[in-house]
Amino acid sequence: MPDLDLLLAILHHFFVFALFGVLCSEFVLVRRGIDAAATARVASIDAGYGVLAALILIVGFSRAIFAAKGWAYYEHNAYFWAKIGTFAVIGLLSVPVTLAFLRWRRSGISPTDEEIMKARRYLWMQLALFPLLPAFAAAMARGYGVFQ
Ligand code: HEM
Repeated sequence: MPDLDLLLAILHHFFVFALFGVLCSEFVLVRRGIDAAATARVASIDAGYGVLAALILIVGFSRAIFAAKGWAYYEHNAYFWAKIGTFAVIGLLSVPVTLAFLRWRRSGISPTDEEIMKARRYLWMQLALFPLLPAFAAAMARGYGVFQ
C-alpha cells in the first residue's frame, strides 16, 4: 500500500524533527537563573515531549508492521533493534528531567543551580545519543545489519 507507506513516512519525519526541536529548546531554556515563570513554561513544553514520543512509537511501529517492507524485514535487522534500544534509553533519560520540571513547577520557586545542572546533564546525554537514531535508521532502511 504505497500511499499508507508515504503518509507514515511523512508523519514519522515530522514527529521526529518536532521531538528534536523540543529537546533542543529544553536544553536552551534550562539554564542557571531560570525563574519560576520560565520553569512553568518548560514544564508545558515537556508535555509535548511525551506526546511526540508516543506518536513516534505509534507511527514507527505502524511503519514497521504495515508499511512497504513488512515486519519480517525489520525483525531480523540489528540496526532496527539498535534504534529501538537507543530510543528506549533516551526515553529513560528523559524521566528524571520530567520529574524535575514537575517538581519545580509545583514548588513555584526557582530551582537551585545544582538541580539545573543535573537536569542539563540528562538533556545533554539525550542530545548526544540522538544522532545515532537517524544513522541506525538509514542503515536499517538499506538492509545493513541483517541477522537470522
Ligand atoms: C526519535 C526517534 C526516531 C528517529 C530519529 C527516527 C529516524 C528515522 C529516519 C531518519 C528514517 C528514514 C530512514 C531512511 O529511509 O533512510 C526512519 C525510518 C523508519 N523508522 Fe524511525 N526514527 C525514530 C523512531 C522510530 C521508532 C520508535 C520506530 C518503531 C518501530 C521507527 C521505525 C521506523 C521504520 C519502520 C522506518 C522505515 C525504514 C525503511 O524505509 O525501511 N522509528 N526513522
